[in-house]
Formats: sequence, C-alpha cells, structure tokens
Amino acid sequence: MATRPNKSLTYPVPAAMAKAHCNSVEQYDEMMKESLENPGKFWGGIASEFKWNKKWDTDLSYNFHRSKGKVEIKWFEGGETNVCYNAIDRHIEAGKGDKIAFYWEGNEPTADGSMTYQQLHDRVCQMSNVLKSCGVTKGKVVALYMPMILELPIAMLACARVGALHTVIFGGFSSKSLSDRMFDAKADLLITASGVYRGKKFIDLLAISKEGVEMTAELGHEVPNVCVVQWTDVKADMPEQDSYWLLEDKIASASTECEVEWVDAEHPLFLLYTSGSTGTPKGVVHTTGGYMVYAYTTFKYVFDYQENDVFWCTADCGWITGHSYITYGPLFAGSTSIVFEGIPTYPDVGRFWEVCEKYKVTQFYTAPTAIRALKRYGDEAVLKYDLSSLRVLGSVGEPINPEAWEWYYRVVGQEKCAIVDTYWQTETGGHVLTPLPGVKPTKPGSCSGPFFGVDMNILDNEGKAVEGPGEGFLAISRPWPGMMRTVFNNHERFEATYFSQFDGFYCTGDGGIRDEDGYMWITGRVDDVMCISGHRIGTAEVEAAMGKHEGIAESAAIQIPHDIKGNSIYTFVVLRPGYEMTKELKKELVQIVRAEVGAFAAPDKIKEAEGLPKTRSGKIMRRILRKIATKDFDTLGDTSTLADSSVVDQLIKNANIED
Ligand code: WTA
Repeated sequence: MATRPNKSLTYPVPAAMAKAHCNSVEQYDEMMKESLENPGKFWGGIASEFKWNKKWDTDLSYNFHRSKGKVEIKWFEGGETNVCYNAIDRHIEAGKGDKIAFYWEGNEPTADGSMTYQQLHDRVCQMSNVLKSCGVTKGKVVALYMPMILELPIAMLACARVGALHTVIFGGFSSKSLSDRMFDAKADLLITASGVYRGKKFIDLLAISKEGVEMTAELGHEVPNVCVVQWTDVKADMPEQDSYWLLEDKIASASTECEVEWVDAEHPLFLLYTSGSTGTPKGVVHTTGGYMVYAYTTFKYVFDYQENDVFWCTADCGWITGHSYITYGPLFAGSTSIVFEGIPTYPDVGRFWEVCEKYKVTQFYTAPTAIRALKRYGDEAVLKYDLSSLRVLGSVGEPINPEAWEWYYRVVGQEKCAIVDTYWQTETGGHVLTPLPGVKPTKPGSCSGPFFGVDMNILDNEGKAVEGPGEGFLAISRPWPGMMRTVFNNHERFEATYFSQFDGFYCTGDGGIRDEDGYMWITGRVDDVMCISGHRIGTAEVEAAMGKHEGIAESAAIQIPHDIKGNSIYTFVVLRPGYEMTKELKKELVQIVRAEVGAFAAPDKIKEAEGLPKTRSGKIMRRILRKIATKDFDTLGDTSTLADSSVVDQLIKNANIED
C-alpha cells in the first residue's frame, strides 16, 4: 500500500490560514514554551473562559513516577463546574440561543434537520429530567448504545448535566461486547434505539440490546432500566418487563428546565472502553475540568475554528473522536457542526462531498480508511460538488499514507486547504501530535509536532530520551489537561498499562520517528493492539473469541497491511485432534468473532498451523507470524529464542500452500 514517505517533501501553509488563531512559528513556539514552563497559567487562562461555579485552588498537581507512589493527575482541584452548562447554557446567556448547534443529516439524503442552542438546551433538560426520574443521579453510569441521531449527543450532555457518567458503546459492537461493558461499568440505565439503517442494511439495535441486558444479568448485574428511542419505520418490539420503556412516553411531559449539578473539576465525566494488548477492554476515565479545557483548545487551534464555520467530523460518538469532536469540542466553542447518521458510500460514493456542499462545510474531519476507499472511485465523484467552502481537512485514527494525503489535498482540498493529520488516543482525550494549520509547512504522512502542553518524547529501549532525529517509543513526561485519569474501578491496571514501562512517563504504546526537521512520524503500535480501518482491536480479544470454538486448541491474531483498511486481521489457528480446516469451520470462526466482539473485528484470513512460534516463557512471537503471513521469509530475524524452532519451518511450508 504505502510507498515510503518522502521525509523532505513539504506543502506550504495555505494562504487562507494567514489569520489563523495561531499563524506563525514564533507564536507557536512562544505558546508551546509557556504551556510547558507555566502550565497552570497557560491552561488556567483558557479555563477562565468557562463558567466555574467555584474557582479552583490548585492549577495542577500530579505524580507520573510509579516508583514514588500512586500515579495521580489533578487539574483545577477545588474548582466546581459543569460541562453541559459550558457546552450550552453559557452560549445562550451570551445571546447565541438561535444559533444552530447541530445539523443532522440522516442515512437517507432526504432526512435532515437542525437544532439551535436553545432547542438543544430544552431537549437536554428534558432528557436530564427523564434520567432523574429513573434514579440516575450524580456518579451513576448510563450506557448508550445508539445510532448517530441527535438523541445520542443529547443523552451524553444530559448525563453531564446531572453529574452521571456516560459510557457510549459503538453500535457495531455485539451483544456480548455490550454486556461485558455494561457489567464492568455496572450500568444503571441503558439507552438504545429500536433500530437503524446503515445504507440499506437494517440493524436491530433493540434485539441486540435485549440480548446484551440478559447476558449482563448472567454475569451478575441487572440493568434496572432500558430506555428505547423509537427510530426508523420499524416499530420497537418492546419486551413485557417494566424495566423497558419508550423515551417518547416520558419525554414530552418532562420539563425543559433542569438545574445543572455543579461538580468537582475531577469528577468523572465519562468512561469509554478501549482495547489494550491484554485482557478485556478497559474503561478509560476522563474527568470534567481538564477534558473540557483540552477538547475546546484542540478544537479551536487544530481546526482553526472561526465564528461562522460549519464543522463536520464523520466519526461515530461510539469512539473518542465522536466524544471530543462531535459532542464536546464543537459545543464548547459554540460552533455549528454536523451529526451524520449515514455511511460514505450510500446512496452513492459522492455522499461525503454532497453533504459538504449542502452545508458549506468549512472543516472536514475523517479517517484515512474512508479517504482511501473514496479515492478508488476517482476524482469525478468529488469534483461534481462545490467544495470551495472547505478550509481545513483533518485525518485521524491511523497513519495516513502519502498517496491518500496527496489525493485529499489535491482533489478534495483543491490545493487550498490545510491538512491536519491528528495523532491521539482514547486515553489522551484530544490531539497530542498534530500540525496547526497556520503554522508551518506540512509533510504528507507526518503528524508534525506536539500540541500545547504535550512534552512528547522518543525513548530508546532503556527509556532514555532521544534528542534530535531518531526512532523509538512515544512517551509523554507530564500531564496535559485532557489525559485519562484512571481505568474505571482499576487504578492498578491504569498504572501497570501506561506507567510501568518507563518510570515517569505516560507510554502511548506507539512507536515514532523524529526526522531531521523535527517532524514526527508514527510508525504504529509497539504492543499487541491492532488498528483495522482505524478501529482499535486487541489481539487478545480476537483470540479469546476464537478459543470459544470447541475445535480450536489455540490461535494467534496479527494484522497485515491492507490497501483500504490500513490493516486487516490474519489469524493462525491450531486445531484440536479430530478437526479439519474446512470452509465451514472458517465460517464458524468468523461468526464467533462477529458475535463475541463485533463485525468489524472479523478476520480476513484464517490459516491452519500445527503450532505457534513461542518464546520459552510462552509468549507468542507475532513478529515472526507477521513475516510469515506476508511471505517475507528471508528476514525472519532472530528465532533463537523460540521454544521450538521447527514450528517456523512448518508455518513456512503451510504459507506456500494456497487455500
Ligand atoms: C492510532 C483514536 C497514526 C495510534 C483517536 C493510536 C494514529 C491509536 C493516528 C488510538 C494518526 C490514531 N497517525 N496513528 N494520526 N491517530 N492513531 O484510541 O496507534 O481509537 O495509539 O483513538 O490509533 O486509537 P483510538
């Protein structure tokens, strides 16, 4: 797929960026310096733009050294605020009640709508009152398993208003994944919808939810309430139980006023489950004050948000991108943005561009997977539309290969837009490495450099920071306001996952390069996390799912390069005696992964193996499997640490047999 990036190729800052919020290297350097030397003052200044019921006492206190005790991060301690108030009420007070907060564009191009800040306020208050009526108050957890309809950000904001924590579960997850998350979070309420169309396909969210609730009960937690939003023309098949009720039966009579619950700056705002290299997904916890300030600041500077812009992020609220750049960042800035229910290829491959033209979108933010998929259909499908309103084009979720970058720049952006390749993670809350569109030339495939307040290091194997050009582990030496604070109910796992590899550093799990000009390039995960179409999937999750099949003794999942998806999943499986690798069995295995994790985690390739290459301590050597899967047999590297090196010969022999 990717040719090697040309590290000296640069594209100039577009002329339209002359008046960007940050528009020179000098300004960037100065702000960067201030943010690192005087973080409390820098971030405190921005925090003061928000409404605080009580001002904070301490800007920042933290410990990043596990060797010195508990890892802890506190921003704006002692302060009291409310995220929902700052996203909505604050703008109404400033006279912007009639401004459009959200445009909504449905799966069908004929289905659309909009909502002003005042209307959003009223709907959020009604939803908050519904939450309160079923006992959801400060500190309780609400699971959201919903399509991309306005009720989703409304529900998120309503949780924030009453001090409850939301955990959004992407609508593509299976009932099993839904139940694992609801169980871990001990959800007090599930909000779902009767169903949704994605393209022409109907997804029965309610049926999956019912199964998920039953499975959660089997695990030992009863979800006391399930709220169903009637959606699409398919009528909700409501279960008999009282715990299930329709939102429409309660919301109309709910008041459009609801006092906000002022919470501590470090009160948790949400948890969002994400995959790691081992075990089950972890509930990444973000808190109130720091997240608010960081989502806002990154939104403002990275997309160069200006007052009359129309911002569009194509992500789903089920991922962190949808949290920070659909629900929260845009509303903190008082912007107008788009919530999109559909998919890029329905009713045709021009859908993204049609929507950009329709709303005169100024900033467009999507994933490399989508760019690569749409590039295949040629320039005509894009050039049919008037995209002259666009100013900034963003990319997120995985490395963008230079070919896709250049197509995005030349065809979609007509060589007039800034491209921002934003590197960040569920854990970081907002962008940590990214170009600012008005600052310096960009390089296709590079995410430029750190955002304010981020001291990104490249560490060698010993944990020593590489100065100047070099390659190594990406790790951050001090807290920025948007970083996660803990793993839900498992602080030990938080410390072990992120702070044990290099004492004193938050370890991202990604590798990176700093080139001669100081530009950063992401080389990909250094742990056992895969990145498929920009979605994070743990090898352990796929392997655990396959292991549920009675015919499987053990398995190993790896990712190999894929033209559109960036990577695809390749699995090696060892069968139990009496089983044979047949088409049927492969289908069953794919099915089991779809059911246990979700359709997006289904392996593209299943290969039988007699054994797996393991170290003497039993760890699967995925490096070797990756080489074998891509038939790169000559550079297998050191196999001397393998417990049984004859396994490799067998794997090579098998690899050459097509099946
Ligand atoms: C990868 C998504 C290269 C990276 C916001 C990271 C990227 C993981 C980029 C986080 C990028 C994200 N270039 N790689 N611009 N953005 N990644 O938690 O491996 O779903 O660790 O957050 O995606 O994925 P997550």
